[in-house]
Amino acid sequence: MRILVLGSGGREHAIIRKIKESPKVDKIYAAPGNGGISKDAECIDIGVMDKEGIVAFSKENAVDIVFVAPDDPLAAGMVDTLTANGIRAFGPRAEAAVIESSKVFSKNLMKKYNIPTADYEVFDDPAKAVEYIENKNRYPVVIKADGLALGKGVIIAQTHKEAREAVKEIMEDKKFGDSGNKVVVEEYLTGPEVSVLAFTDGISLVPMVSSKDHKRAYDNDEGLNTGGMGTISPNPYYTPEIAEICRKTIFEPTVAAMNSENRTFKGCLYFGLMITPDGPKVIEYNARFGDPEAQVVLPRLKTDLVDIIEAVIDERLSQVSIEWKEEAAACVVMASGGYPLAYKKGLEITGLDENGQISGAEIFHAGTKLEKGKFYTNGGRVLGVTAEAKTLEEALAKAYTAVSKISFEGAHYRTDIGKTK
Ligand code: AMP
Ligand code: GLY
Repeated sequence: MRILVLGSGGREHAIIRKIKESPKVDKIYAAPGNGGISKDAECIDIGVMDKEGIVAFSKENAVDIVFVAPDDPLAAGMVDTLTANGIRAFGPRAEAAVIESSKVFSKNLMKKYNIPTADYEVFDDPAKAVEYIENKNRYPVVIKADGLALGKGVIIAQTHKEAREAVKEIMEDKKFGDSGNKVVVEEYLTGPEVSVLAFTDGISLVPMVSSKDHKRAYDNDEGLNTGGMGTISPNPYYTPEIAEICRKTIFEPTVAAMNSENRTFKGCLYFGLMITPDGPKVIEYNARFGDPEAQVVLPRLKTDLVDIIEAVIDERLSQVSIEWKEEAAACVVMASGGYPLAYKKGLEITGLDENGQISGAEIFHAGTKLEKGKFYTNGGRVLGVTAEAKTLEEALAKAYTAVSKISFEGAHYRTDIGKTK
């Protein structure tokens, strides 16, 4: 088989390395990929939003399956276009990807189908949003831009002044463009967070092993929200009892709700959960693998990923038995100094072998480029240094040992992955 993976981050590298293990696959392409990915797949210079380019390339090169990994092309209907052109694609159609790309849609879906989530109101008028927040007078309060905002469209306001500023930035200054035409104003929840990714073909849903993301830039959960600074799997807060509650009250109702709305979801559905004192609630849905959740979940997968991908596309997921390794996994993200704000690019990375790997860990490249045999930084999140071991502590120790051998100017990483709530 010939498989094309769309995207250029650590998540895509983890997907590609797993696909590479399949005996069914003899060619993997990545569009556009990155320096590290080029060691595992042929990188082609086509953007993830270029529907015509992707269709033409897939036809010319007899690609069997296109795996659409990032949120933007899913929301823009890449899977619809590929399918209309007779090309098999993994991922939801645009009408289902809306579960991630519109928070107003997902909140209304949860309300309509009684899926537990934070109480909320939707506003398209900034003055009304501010008035509502004033009347409620309960802080912190959570303000979310409706649309995609690179994970940055969520503001937890501690005071009325911060809330007013957040509404202004999102709705009037249009900090996230049209994503801020509407906002969700939401009750602040507390408790440990859990990420659960699940395969679904729209008929059955199979949760993957749980994980935990560390979203803040600095140790002790300080600093700005990022795309994710590190992950562990399994998530210690996700007990079998909680998993069963989630299956009954969240996972299966979500698949059924999407079917009832004629928006059948096929692909990887990501549940961002909070285990609150009142039980598990949905913080957000994503229509794709998480990044860096994929980097700890996929290495633990024993079953051939390509078998699962085909079963999801062909709507026969219930016939596949999906197995996981007992080992725990940990991923420490090495980021550019300054990330998630401004940072330098093009700095040489030392400590990696010629394949961009290191012994004792698996390196998923996120923002790297390869020039004349050397790897250079090329993005905010640079590397996802991942290790597996019998226990989480050992996996973390192995990952941090590998991190200590890799360097680039200004490299920044958290030293407490796996330690905070
Ligand atoms: P989201 O992009 O919706 O996942 O939000 C980003 C982060 O903001 C989440 O991972 C949570 O840590 C936090 N967050 C979002 N919504 C809430 C909420 N209602 N209560 C408390 N924290 C929240
Ligand atoms: N790590 C969070 C996400 O992928 O949205």
